[in-house]
Amino acid sequence: MSSHTADPIVTRATLERMKRDGEKIACLTAYDAAFAQVVEQAGVEMIIVGDSLGMVVQGRESTLPVSLEDMIYHGACVARGARRALRIVDMPFMSYPNVNEALMNAARLMREGGAQMVKLEGGARVHEIVHELALQGIPVCGHLGLLPQSVHQLGGYRVQGRERETAHAILEDARGLEAAGAAVLVLECVPAALAREITRAVSMPVIGIGAGPDCDGQVLVLQDALGITPGKRPKFSKDFMAGQTSIQAAVQAYVRAVKDGGFPGPEQSF
Ligand code: KIV
Repeated sequence: MSSHTADPIVTRATLERMKRDGEKIACLTAYDAAFAQVVEQAGVEMIIVGDSLGMVVQGRESTLPVSLEDMIYHGACVARGARRALRIVDMPFMSYPNVNEALMNAARLMREGGAQMVKLEGGARVHEIVHELALQGIPVCGHLGLLPQSVHQLGGYRVQGRERETAHAILEDARGLEAAGAAVLVLECVPAALAREITRAVSMPVIGIGAGPDCDGQVLVLQDALGITPGKRPKFSKDFMAGQTSIQAAVQAYVRAVKDGGFPGPEQSF
């Protein structure tokens, strides 16, 4: 597979066009320049600098200890390695408790952390924040389903939306985020049928992780996709290094599998 570095720069409009055309969007996380370059050259449209770096880079038990400074540092590293893929940087735990702090902290991620879009977790609680960020020209990616920053409130890393009421609440949250101005939605660990319904119900691109095959695109934590998860690899992930002889080949295999609909399969879905 040839390098995708010279392809046109990916924008929000590219992602919207891909959703309309039914072309799958491939996304991976990255936290440094070298891996950002590898995943960009493999052809991903989006790179998420996730606060999952708390676990896979810093060796912590959750994302909660990750600071804004950590996100700025890793976001800036990724921005030096990738210029074509759209870069989304996570707003870490408690960096958006109200509109004012969200605006100031998102501005730092854009100015200093190389973000072209920021991602934050939650439903109705963040609608006003999303609206104000969008008004200021800061594109926002929502995140629904399993919310790792709320792991203690949720009682663990569990599939969300299995019951009719919780499924309905997640669907309404997705509609609310879109109405508030969100540009993209990450949907984590929800039943495939619910993810399909949400993907059809909103016009913003929906990127799934543990959300079945019918989202507009897929994302994985890079270390999970390379089979080097510290601890237990999640059920929704797959080791793309298996049978490959280089990291580049494994990442290309992931992108191909997303694009042709081969990933995720039933064994990686709920
Ligand atoms: O932190 C992270 O890596 C994420 C993924 C779901 C993209 O939020």
